[in-house]
Amino acid sequence: MRVAITGAGGFIGRRLADALRARRSLRGGAIERLMLVDRAFADPPADPLIETIAGDFGQNACREALAQTAPDVVFHLAAIPGGAAEADYALGRNVNLEAPLALFDRLAKPGLVVVNASSIAVFGTPLPRAICDDTLPVPTLSYGAHKLMLEIHLADLSRRGTLDARSLRLPGIVARPSAPSGHVSAFMSQIFHAFAAGEAFVCPTRPEGAVLVESVATCVANLIHAAELPAARLPPRRAFLAPCLRVTMAQLAAAIWRARRLTGAPPVTYAPDAKIEAQYAAYPPTTTQIADALGFHNDGDVDALARNVLAGLPMDGADKRI
Ligand SMILES: NC(=O)c1ccc[n+]([C@@H]2O[C@H](COP(=O)([O-])OP(=O)(O)OC[C@H]3O[C@@H](n4cnc5c(N)ncnc54)[C@H](O)[C@@H]3O)[C@@H](O)[C@H]2O)c1
Repeated sequence: MRVAITGAGGFIGRRLADALRARRSLRGGAIERLMLVDRAFADPPADPLIETIAGDFGQNACREALAQTAPDVVFHLAAIPGGAAEADYALGRNVNLEAPLALFDRLAKPGLVVVNASSIAVFGTPLPRAICDDTLPVPTLSYGAHKLMLEIHLADLSRRGTLDARSLRLPGIVARPSAPSGHVSAFMSQIFHAFAAGEAFVCPTRPEGAVLVESVATCVANLIHAAELPAARLPPRRAFLAPCLRVTMAQLAAAIWRARRLTGAPPVTYAPDAKIEAQYAAYPPTTTQIADALGFHNDGDVDALARNVLAGLPMDGADKRI
């Protein structure tokens, strides 16, 4: 089994690569080679399983180098995030749409399993009053529009037998590193970093602003589960919502604070930004019938989510008091 990850140096990609290295098997076979693709690698893992391909997969040379490794499974994670794609339309269109179309034209072979990281950003503002797998996606960000186009293209290639794709519409995955990333949704992660460090947090939503979230550990488990599923179990649309939790920012703050075993009110103040809240913190109740039936999981509840996330973060401020 030869497995590739595009965007392998990113937030989710690194964790996915670690999980695959630890498992060393996928779809019932041993992983013989794990190909990591990203623009550059500062500290690739020293493991004979790993081959790094540093470059822009929008360029022919990078796609060709990956094609030469003959992957059986591709986790497609490389992307320009929503805020950055909105600010630079040409870059977002290239990386989020045109380069993946060219990549899968080049890699296509019957049975090639593609796990595509799509996004709940396929739903635009104003957000629907409820979201399920049958809710009409009407994106209002170029990022969401390009994610939707790629989902449809991969479903069509799957119908034609050119490859075998499954697109997971991911919610907000927490907690991404605190460095600037171009993700407008970064506030969902920053609250974890602030509280882990024992610091106060200014939230750009109202306390009742509702987000859809999943820990990165659960996200990685779900991406691997997506790869393991046989094509016969997948719906023809090939794209569906990933399981997630809908929580208000006040509930999230309280749960992180409880998970830190700290008493009193969590040190959060609310300075709502209407634009941020409309796209990222006004989510309605969401059901994920397809993913549930296929055996995907969410984190369980907001307390388990907080524990799962904090378990992966340094607790620099463990003894600090605010
Ligand atoms: N993190 C989330 O909350 C979230 C939510 C929904 C969907 N997603 C999707 O999941 C995937 C992974 O997200 P992430 O948070 O790890 O993103 P990330 O921004 O941390 O990582 C993306 C990686 O792609 C790489 N990349 C970008 N353009 C490239 C190019 N032209 N050639 C090679 N590499 C390139 C970047 O260098 C980066 O390492 C993305 O497709 C994203 O849209 C993420």
